[in-house]
Amino acid sequence: MRSTRPRFLRSGLVSALTGLTALGALLFAAPGAQAADTPLRDLAAAKGKLIGSAVNPAKLTGTYGDIAGREFNTVTPDNAMKWESVEPSRGTYNWGPADQVVAFAAAHGQQVRGHTLVWHSQNPGWLANGSWTPAQLSTILQDHIAAEAGRYKGRIAAWDVVNEPFNEDGTYRSSIWYNGLGQDYIANALTWARAADPSAELYINDYNVEGVNAKSTALYNLVRSLKQRGVPIDGVGLQAHLILGQVPATLQQNIQRFADLGVDVAITELDVRMQLPSTSAKLTQQAADYKAVADACVAVARCVGVTVWGFTDSDSWVPDVFSGYGAATPYDEAFAPKPAYHAIAGSLGGTTTPPDPGTGCTAAYSVVNQWNSGFTGQVRISCAGAALSSWKATWTFGAGQTLTQAWNADCTQSGAAVTCTNASYNGTVPDGGSVTFGFNASWNGSNPVPVVTLGRTP
Ligand code: G3I
Repeated sequence: MRSTRPRFLRSGLVSALTGLTALGALLFAAPGAQAADTPLRDLAAAKGKLIGSAVNPAKLTGTYGDIAGREFNTVTPDNAMKWESVEPSRGTYNWGPADQVVAFAAAHGQQVRGHTLVWHSQNPGWLANGSWTPAQLSTILQDHIAAEAGRYKGRIAAWDVVNEPFNEDGTYRSSIWYNGLGQDYIANALTWARAADPSAELYINDYNVEGVNAKSTALYNLVRSLKQRGVPIDGVGLQAHLILGQVPATLQQNIQRFADLGVDVAITELDVRMQLPSTSAKLTQQAADYKAVADACVAVARCVGVTVWGFTDSDSWVPDVFSGYGAATPYDEAFAPKPAYHAIAGSLGGTTTPPDPGTGCTAAYSVVNQWNSGFTGQVRISCAGAALSSWKATWTFGAGQTLTQAWNADCTQSGAAVTCTNASYNGTVPDGGSVTFGFNASWNGSNPVPVVTLGRTP
């Protein structure tokens, strides 16, 4: 175990939570609700976790800067540390925007996640369009890493040293680096980064590697082999650019398998895009998705935390790249926290979405057991400052799941819509009390966590 910079990670509290299944809680969406009193960063720190955002240095003033400083204990420059930003001509460096982020973080007691030293994209023209021998390319890469990681030595908690090295099928991505240097560009980059900044945790970061699949298995095999060879590798970054309702069912299992290799895991670029316009139902589902991701990280001790790729919808890459999609972040364009914000807070042990004014109660859906064709689910209805004398829980299965059996509730399913009402003996939920019912259902392909809506029976 390397002893490096002090880290506020992995508390006993977190370990105690290991093994929890992902809870898909969240009852009542409350668009426009006020932020919970406790900032996310305080909730996260109490759990030994990081909560972060990508930030644009040009915007770090006013409301944007206030929220960035108040809510997060780590920041990642969105573009400012990329090669085309810092070394637009060979050997000429433009550190201004990156320095701004590092200074902002220092002023706000935040960690910095460096992003990124080696990537196929956003490289300057002189590099991308040059004609290089392998020896020249190797020198260029080593010099760049030495210059950038060296400049910020001791001030970067973790570097995304290598970004997006794989294709979807798990083969190596064709890039200036792979084509010129072969797969060892990765080991060399990590080694040079360690030499330049021995205290930074060194990561490989990629997208579509959140669940267990061919690409994440290629990453897994690479990390295992790097460790076996003694190459410095401390963590993997799961970017998590997700689509509404499509959190991979194997996310926590995947995080755990990397952790079991002896590396940290970070969720590095979380966002959940939806087809516009956003609706209250979509925002509620988005909250469940954010919570499922945060819960999976909280449940695995070596998952160090979650960074969102921009915290406001006014500063997200999504609408520029996915036509018709957006609203992917936890704050809306006017900086109002969305249900997703409250969902993250809830996952970190804080206030979740305010209870529905009609009932004052919440319902939490969880998958307690899952096998190849079926699963057992559970819904817990809890009241605090309110009580129920009857209840009705409804949700929509998003991927063709079908109820086969229920207990402690009368459940019916019509199409994808499920309605469960209390049994004769458990309609009463006292103030401060809870009631649980369960069910078995079939699933196939994926088993996304639905959002449960709670009401009273007439
Ligand atoms: O700075 C120029 C500006 O001068 C010009 O007027 C404008 C017109 O197109 O473009 C501006 O540059 C844009 C740059 O962001 C800064 O805003 C680029 O076009 C645009 O392509 C670039 O997009 C960035 C993208 O990476 C590039 O791949 C996004 O901001 C950035 O959020 C995104 O981040 C990546 C991570 O690094 C890696 N994982 C995926 C993630 C999302 O794509």
